[in-house]
Amino acid sequence: MLPPAHIASLRQRLAASVGAANLLVDPEDTARYLRDARDRYQGTALAVVRPASTAEVSAVVAGCAAAGVGIVPQGGNTGMCGGATPQSQSPCIVLALERMNRIRGIDVADSTMTVEAGCTLAAVQAAAREAGKLFPMSLGSEGSCQIGGNIATNAGGTAVLRYGCMRELVLGLEVVLPDGRVWNALRRLRKDNTGYDLKQLIIGSEGTLGVVTGAVLKLYARPARALTALVALHGVEQVLGLLGEFRRSFGEHITTFEAMSHSEYALVLRTHRDLRDPLPQRAAWYAFIEVTSELDTMDLRAALESCLARSQQAGRVIDATIADSLAQADNIWGIRHGVTEANLRAGAAVSHDTSVPVSSIADFVAGSEAAIRAAFPAAQVLFVGHVGDGNIHVVAILPREDYAGAEAFARVADEINALVDRVTVDLGGSISAEHGIGRSNRARLRRFKDPIELEFMVRVKAMLDPAGLMNPGALL
Ligand code: FAD
Ligand code: MLT
Ligand code: ZN
Repeated sequence: MLPPAHIASLRQRLAASVGAANLLVDPEDTARYLRDARDRYQGTALAVVRPASTAEVSAVVAGCAAAGVGIVPQGGNTGMCGGATPQSQSPCIVLALERMNRIRGIDVADSTMTVEAGCTLAAVQAAAREAGKLFPMSLGSEGSCQIGGNIATNAGGTAVLRYGCMRELVLGLEVVLPDGRVWNALRRLRKDNTGYDLKQLIIGSEGTLGVVTGAVLKLYARPARALTALVALHGVEQVLGLLGEFRRSFGEHITTFEAMSHSEYALVLRTHRDLRDPLPQRAAWYAFIEVTSELDTMDLRAALESCLARSQQAGRVIDATIADSLAQADNIWGIRHGVTEANLRAGAAVSHDTSVPVSSIADFVAGSEAAIRAAFPAAQVLFVGHVGDGNIHVVAILPREDYAGAEAFARVADEINALVDRVTVDLGGSISAEHGIGRSNRARLRRFKDPIELEFMVRVKAMLDPAGLMNPGALL
């Protein structure tokens, strides 16, 4: 515990840096910053601080460093692993980036955009669109999550198959280091082989090495044509067969290839009553596909129809629909993006973020489902995910009344995680494909990360943040 006089003097210093109105201490004002998106973590902080510029972030970080107070960077607070909720034993502040929301510039010739960390992903997509370009990352949380959070978590989403995850979309960074210095690497270079890549170390570091304040993002050509298809299939093997067929037929033109089990599909439609089921026949699995072309000369529809017809003749596909309007496409993507809320509302939902080699997805689905069902016969087992990337989320939903309270939920989550992790590791997979480690998965990281990699992670952290003030209790 810090003596009250220290707390008062730190608050005074922080208020001088950001303005008194942007130093929140009243519980009514701070509540929403101290709880995670799924209401699983609740924390405390000496203050929530809302800087509006890199200089202000630098002053806040320097002030905290001088006082020995931890800093929890927070973007849109949509993260799935509790990484943005302060939960350390030692005192800390929440540093909310939401006021740093300017698009600093768009360079059409270089196909880059320079943005502040607090821009929402949706705002970045819109700014790119207005400039006649595309920023391709797409997540269900895009209206709220921020670019800084996307960088800190190395976010994935539904367009990774074509464009890669955040690591592949960032050319330059501006970062406030744990001692308050500003590292300005807002470079627009496509190639730079001048030694170790510090930028890639910061990406995916979950706020534990510094505060991202700005970034140079890659922009792409806007597709001239885009088509969405929803396909009903007999099983996950057929989904993978269809993925192979699409890869052969479309190559780079597949932007998105996602899949969902019937259990998840039906739950989403039961939960979100505004969404419509576009396929009349019941199927075991569904694929959500987008194909795009930058060339308006390509007859994308004819290619899509013939690929689906071939797959239907091969017995893989039960039924399929191609969206004829933006509203139909929005409905299909609404089903895909409706999963998080539907799962949360359905009961005590234990979800996983597994990746395995694409060729092992069917084994993962069979193995994890069998393991969960054997141990928890009352569980509903659902699958949804980015199968094109080998990233599938298995979700076990248990009766809420049987696992009421944080402790009971944590216990059952640990048990289910252990079952799923065993299947994952046996298949050479990862326990976290895109959501990160945060506070939820630290023990699992220690269990499964290669000891050499773990040792180097600890050493890097100690070198860049020797006092351990950046996001204490997250990741490591
Ligand atoms: P926060 O939740 O605020 O923070 C996440 C982590 O990043 C924390 O450790 C925090 O300390 C750190 N951080 C945040 N900002 C900064 C900064 N400026 N500098 C340094 N560290 C920082 N994720 C996917 O990858 N793929 C998906 O498909 C996907 N879909 C989702 C759908 C829904 C409906 C929801 C609610 C979430 C989804 N997510 C998904 C998870 C989440 O949206 C992403 O992890 C996102 O990148 C988090 O961004 P954020 O701004 O909300 O970060
Ligand atoms: C998704 O793929 O929809 C996201 O990762 C969110 C989730 O898993 O709930
Ligand atoms: Zn996902």
